[in-house]
Amino acid sequence: MATKTVKIIRSVAQMQKLSHALAGKGKRIGIVPTMGYLHDGHLSLIRRAKKSCDVVVTTIFVNPAQFAPHEDFAKYPRDEKGDIAKIKSAGGEIVFVPNAKDIYPESFQTYVAVEKLAEMLEGKIRPGHFRGVATVVAKLFNIIRPDVAVFGMKDFQQAAVLGQMTRDLGYPIKFVVAPTV
Ligand code: PAF
Repeated sequence: MATKTVKIIRSVAQMQKLSHALAGKGKRIGIVPTMGYLHDGHLSLIRRAKKSCDVVVTTIFVNPAQFAPHEDFAKYPRDEKGDIAKIKSAGGEIVFVPNAKDIYPESFQTYVAVEKLAEMLEGKIRPGHFRGVATVVAKLFNIIRPDVAVFGMKDFQQAAVLGQMTRDLGYPIKFVVAPTV
């Protein structure tokens, strides 16, 4: 069911404050990380998160760290207005749209690298891709502190890498891999 209003948060500090307040009220927080340009598959992840959470935070961030040097970050499609309307229609309450400087300040130099799982298959042809994915998702987990995180099975290796990271780093998060729509 569609939500009446969607809260749009652009700053890391504001998102941390809101998550802290929600957790303080005993709300169960779900996260659906995305790079935007949403389709029905993403919306099914939001609906899945809503089943086991009080509030769902959908993140929209085209993550520069996961693009290999030969891949075109600038050409990645973007449609924030359309995405927000879709999130609303799927019942998402909060959209976190950080800017790159807030996520990767100039002095940034700490990355999360999952080893074996990230080096095979797609990892072989996209050097640094899964390191970028794991790093940004770890940052989003740290900022939002969700109880549940939902990822699509469509990106099978990504789900395996992030599940491994979640276990290895001891995040107290229920990691859900939802079927492909
Ligand atoms: O699957 C994606 O859209 C991205 O790789 C993710 C998980 C949002 C990290 O940027």
